[in-house]
Amino acid sequence: MKRITIGVLIVAALFMGAAFVVALTPPKLDPDDLRNIAGANVQNGEKVFWASGCAGCHAAPGATGDDRLVLAGGLGLDSHYGTFHAPNISPDKEHGIGDWSFYEFANAMKKGIGRHGENLYPSLPYTSYVRMNNQDIRDLHAFLMTLPESSAPSKPHDITFPFNIRLSVSFWKLLYFDSESPAQLENAAPDVLRGQYLVEGPAHCGECHTPRNLFGGLKYDHWLEGGPNPEGGDGIVPDITPGSGDIGDWTASEIADYLETGFTPDYDTVGGSMVEVQKNISHLSRADLEAIGAYLKAIPAN
Ligand code: HEC
Ligand code: HEC
Repeated sequence: MKRITIGVLIVAALFMGAAFVVALTPPKLDPDDLRNIAGANVQNGEKVFWASGCAGCHAAPGATGDDRLVLAGGLGLDSHYGTFHAPNISPDKEHGIGDWSFYEFANAMKKGIGRHGENLYPSLPYTSYVRMNNQDIRDLHAFLMTLPESSAPSKPHDITFPFNIRLSVSFWKLLYFDSESPAQLENAAPDVLRGQYLVEGPAHCGECHTPRNLFGGLKYDHWLEGGPNPEGGDGIVPDITPGSGDIGDWTASEIADYLETGFTPDYDTVGGSMVEVQKNISHLSRADLEAIGAYLKAIPAN
């Protein structure tokens, strides 16, 4: 009798365990959603590449000039959980992503899922890239495949238990991974909507300019209000809402100037982690930079 009860308990436990694992298995993109996109436009892919700052993390540390197009990885990203290392995403088939299908690539970008179905860490900012449209992802993929190969092996991450278990990211995703737009601006002018797409999607401005909770989730009700530097240290990331004491009185064009040149209206130069962002974003057209400015004037003030 007792033996049967224990047997039943074990079976029930196994069943619950299996249900638990299924519930935590990260869901992938619906392949049907990717069927109707047009052929790849490599020129647009290059623009998306600069807007989304891939080189900032995936170029070898210290690379300059054309070497920034060799996405060999290796940069260490410090966090409260340890150090993440950006992997090699060059078209090398063995050490990079040259062998990945477009579907696999799109799942990494929009679902945070790796090639073998595993969770990726949100140090790859898929929490923003999820808002990118599939055509841009297609074009970006095609552009990446034109870049030089690197045979540098990716470095393992150096993070603490339990965060080194990728399944733990499933809990995090359930709580903090949301594709909804953080600012409700439905009836806004087309340039504001274009700026919204760039800021909330590819350019991932909120990943640094929005404060995070204890578990690293973005506080969407404080969208772009600034806060402590997510990479630790005692740096501060400024408030860039219209209520900001610093840029509240900049015009949309002055914001665009800053992104284009790296100079503030007072001729201060851009600093900190914004230097890398400015270098990448400055490749965008003036119209896109003005659109970012227009969006930053249209969102609610802090
Ligand atoms: C803020 C830094 C950062 C930026 C910006 C960034 N990545 Fe990453 N990326 C990472 C890190 C760190 C990982 C490793 C994540 C992991 O191991 O779970 C990663 C992983 C990846 C992977 C999975 C690689 C693999 O071997 O599993 C792909 C693909 C990728 N990134 C592509 C991109 C592309 C394309 C862009 C630009 C649109 C980009 N990343 C922008 C940091 C970044
Ligand atoms: C990797 C983190 C990071 C990302 C991503 C980022 N920023 Fe910044 N940003 C900063 C930091 C840090 C500063 C402070 C720079 C300084 O001290 O000069 C800053 C400064 C600024 C300023 C000037 C504010 C001031 O008070 O001087 C503006 C405007 C700005 N960012 C806009 C943006 C926009 C728009 C985006 C997206 C295209 C963006 N940032 C993405 C980290 C980031």
